[in-house]
Amino acid sequence: MRSLPTRFRRERTRVRHTSHMARRIVTACAAIALTACFSPASFAQSADAAGKAPAFTTKPTWYKDALIYEIYPRSFQDSNGDGIGDLNGITSRLDYLKTLGVDAIWLTPIYPSPQVDFGYDISNYEGIDPQYGTMADFDRLVAEAKKRNIGIIMDLVLNHTSDKHPWFIASKSSKTDPKRNWYVWRDGKAGGTPPDNVPNNWESVFGHSAWQWDAKTQQYYYHRFYIQQPDLNWDNPAVRKAMYDVERFWINRGVVGFRLDAITSLFEDPTFSDEDYVKLPDGSIKINAYGDKEVKTDKTDNLPKVNDVLKELRKTADETKGRKVVLIGETYVSSIADLRRLYGENNDALDLPMDMQVGFINKFDVSEFRKNINDAETGLGGNEPLFVFDNHDNPRWDRYGDGTHNQDIGRMLAAILFASRDTAMMYYGDEIGMVTTPPTSKDQVKDPIGITGWPKEKGRDGERTPMQWNDGPNAGFSKDGVKTWLPIPPSYKTVNVKSEVPDFDSLLNWYKQLIELRRSNATLRDGQQIMLNTDNNDVLMWLRKADGQPAVVVACNFTAQTQKVSFDLSSQGISGKSAKTLMKTPGASDPASLDAVELPAFGVYIGQVQ
Ligand code: NOJ
Repeated sequence: MRSLPTRFRRERTRVRHTSHMARRIVTACAAIALTACFSPASFAQSADAAGKAPAFTTKPTWYKDALIYEIYPRSFQDSNGDGIGDLNGITSRLDYLKTLGVDAIWLTPIYPSPQVDFGYDISNYEGIDPQYGTMADFDRLVAEAKKRNIGIIMDLVLNHTSDKHPWFIASKSSKTDPKRNWYVWRDGKAGGTPPDNVPNNWESVFGHSAWQWDAKTQQYYYHRFYIQQPDLNWDNPAVRKAMYDVERFWINRGVVGFRLDAITSLFEDPTFSDEDYVKLPDGSIKINAYGDKEVKTDKTDNLPKVNDVLKELRKTADETKGRKVVLIGETYVSSIADLRRLYGENNDALDLPMDMQVGFINKFDVSEFRKNINDAETGLGGNEPLFVFDNHDNPRWDRYGDGTHNQDIGRMLAAILFASRDTAMMYYGDEIGMVTTPPTSKDQVKDPIGITGWPKEKGRDGERTPMQWNDGPNAGFSKDGVKTWLPIPPSYKTVNVKSEVPDFDSLLNWYKQLIELRRSNATLRDGQQIMLNTDNNDVLMWLRKADGQPAVVVACNFTAQTQKVSFDLSSQGISGKSAKTLMKTPGASDPASLDAVELPAFGVYIGQVQ
């Protein structure tokens, strides 16, 4: 199988709750509340550059124990009162991230950009957009983060540039320009009339044809995303070399890794032939949110050549001697075998292709969670899984909410993330329970896909709203009286860092405890993961075990009813039945025996086998 037919799996389908559950009402979570606050040779890493990254990155496997925190810079902290978050704002919040237990921050793109796709349309790969600050601000962020043992991960957009990038401007200038072949240009279909004779039926992820007519040079260019994001031609060695130099540039500034955007889309099938249409169960062609007949993506996603580039990116990263630069992939693939391939044969490609197969199940189906978590444990050839539940492209965690138990559901999702054998990635604001807050009318929409797709597709603004620091003006994100780039969600009055810090039972404190537990407990960090009680379709239960360490058991109640469970450990050769509770949600029992654990609605129990 090739990659997912869906792009970001943006279907806004809410979790299917059983009939006894209250109908979902979109409410803010009740407040719950913690924390304060050019040739390889010419780029060879200098001793100085090596010194810019935190010391822990000298450990080759550092990323396996890491918590990676995604920041959408526009929305984290505005330091200069323009309503847009910036680098100095992030630097000012590093202590908060340290207290939370973050090891590395993934910054979505901060390069100079026309901001059509809020930074994913880059016009200069070796600069900082003035909206976010200066290169000196970036260097200060890296240095201050290093002092706190936090690394910085850059978002590297390799599939496409902005149409305002000098490379594309040159490419578009004439058919004979030396940069022409840096992008994907094709003639229209013979016999047709431009702009209606597109080369084939391929579609942009963001709606409509993936081909844009250029009247001047009388050809179409290919864009997998917005029209303003022309795809680079990765068959061209000059493109590859330019991008590997970009990689070196940022490594030399001290970054500890890269998140590789849209990495499975680098290549197109050389036949450039039409895709098949996606069919519905009744045989009719599926119509997408933009009103297009939806086509498959077999010829544009996850082609085998992607791995050649991954290996070269890896080789470039590995020029960095004495410390590990980690490669993370945005990898929406539909099978565990596809995910496995992205690590490379000998783990010579990605370190952490994102596993979207667990976090984006988007319904409380115990057997599906069990299968997908187990697949990650057994189907990745021993490589490290990276679980992702939330990001800037998908509705937030409250998509799982039932309107009644959202708080408990938030805790349970966090427990699955942190008590599984995986590298954990979380999205800013998850820890306090920030909820998806989409625009209520089309004129408020900032994300272009929300404008094209309204009202079916409201865009991604809802998951990109400003961080809620306190219940004061602009939620502490920006100064009083400033119009923030996206409105502050009404939930800020109760869902915010300041009010959750002192409340022991807050979601923020739950996250913090989970993160600390995972850091301090060797079994939870590295232990093998085995699914237990596999015929129970109400409660997801698993075992973590490691040589010479006490075993740990976890149970998550996927229902709105109280459940009583007994851990079936005999098949695992574990005779111990008494338990020491490590963590549990309010209302869960503190059992003397693992034969009698009581879990309230969406309750969690984590215990050490005695
Ligand atoms: C994936 C990014 O996460 C998304 O935000 C962006 O729009 C596309 N890639 C195109 O770069």
